[in-house]
Amino acid sequence: MNYHNSALTVVTDEVRPAALRWRSPSNIALVKYWGKYGDQLPRNASVSFTLQGAATDTTLHYGPRKSVGTGVAVQLYLDGKLEPKFTERTQAYLERLLPVYPFLRQLEIRIDTHNSFPHSAGIASSASGMSALALCLVSLEERLFAPLADRAAFYQKASYLARLGSGSACRSVYGSAAVWGEVPGLNGSSEEYAVSVADQLHPVFQTYHDDILLVSRTEKAVSSRAGHGLMEQNPYAAPRYVQANARTREMLQVLQRGDTERFGQLLESEALTLHALMMSSQPSYTLIEPDTLHVINRLRQFRTETGHPVYFTLDAGPNVHLLYPDTVGEPTKRFIRDHLLPYCEDRMYLADRIGSGPEQLEVNETTVA
Ligand code: DP6
Repeated sequence: MNYHNSALTVVTDEVRPAALRWRSPSNIALVKYWGKYGDQLPRNASVSFTLQGAATDTTLHYGPRKSVGTGVAVQLYLDGKLEPKFTERTQAYLERLLPVYPFLRQLEIRIDTHNSFPHSAGIASSASGMSALALCLVSLEERLFAPLADRAAFYQKASYLARLGSGSACRSVYGSAAVWGEVPGLNGSSEEYAVSVADQLHPVFQTYHDDILLVSRTEKAVSSRAGHGLMEQNPYAAPRYVQANARTREMLQVLQRGDTERFGQLLESEALTLHALMMSSQPSYTLIEPDTLHVINRLRQFRTETGHPVYFTLDAGPNVHLLYPDTVGEPTKRFIRDHLLPYCEDRMYLADRIGSGPEQLEVNETTVA
């Protein structure tokens, strides 16, 4: 897919200042993307559930730029505060998109962004943040030029642009569940963008909860970017990629069948494999903490005692995600309150669930620059 288009330039005088706004959710990988090459292409396929509550609300304000330079003129505000670090990253990202959207040089851009989860929660905002921004950009293209062929083309382009910002973000543009990477037998699947697999979910998975236990809210010591880089020299990398591709295929079958037990086995092995890869990198590092293991052990005990299909996964950090169907919601919430909160920093956890995907919102007057 080549989205490069040098024809997408505007007549600056004709651009009226205006804004666009999208709310886009985070996602939790069931089979993990860990290792990349080239221009943000994944070393293996991955599959995720899209969340509902954890999301980024982004408003993109634009107007004509008085004197057009070579770079992009952008300022990024997080919760109303100008953020020089995020501004720099966003500028670099938008400049990488210039072959796709040359008009970005001709605009003055201000981005107002707000996460639904507290910054101090230690939850990564790159998937929700980059997908929200990518959706704003494709909406902007449609507004300045012409609508894309259809909604499928719109989301595919948004997923492609989100991927260039952060790999996992490409899966967040679809509700329910998405796959990124080439999967034999999955029509349209690609390394360049994610595809929706919402229509393949057995009803039991449509009710899934994801409760995020905040074991530690300290910022992680090694970024995902650095972690992906370390995979290039990891002795287990090659078999890992083979395993992850096979697991993505199997996970899709499991999601169709409604097999909550096999789902849990794959889910937990994926989480531990991700962290085993970090531990076997050179240099080695660990992101899990003692309380991460306490939670895991206590959960295993709960499962043995009750038989409830409650399983864990981990992101690139110490926090534990508990995934379970709504049918066991009540005993699971009670178990979390009574037995797991002591392992959480300030007894905090975020109750989330599988979600319906991004939505475009009305621009709120108070956020207009
Ligand atoms: C462990 O998408 O954050 O969450 O592409 O460098 O931005 P970049 O990395 P990122 O990596 C996420 C890795 C993961 C697993 C996953 O979401 O698939």
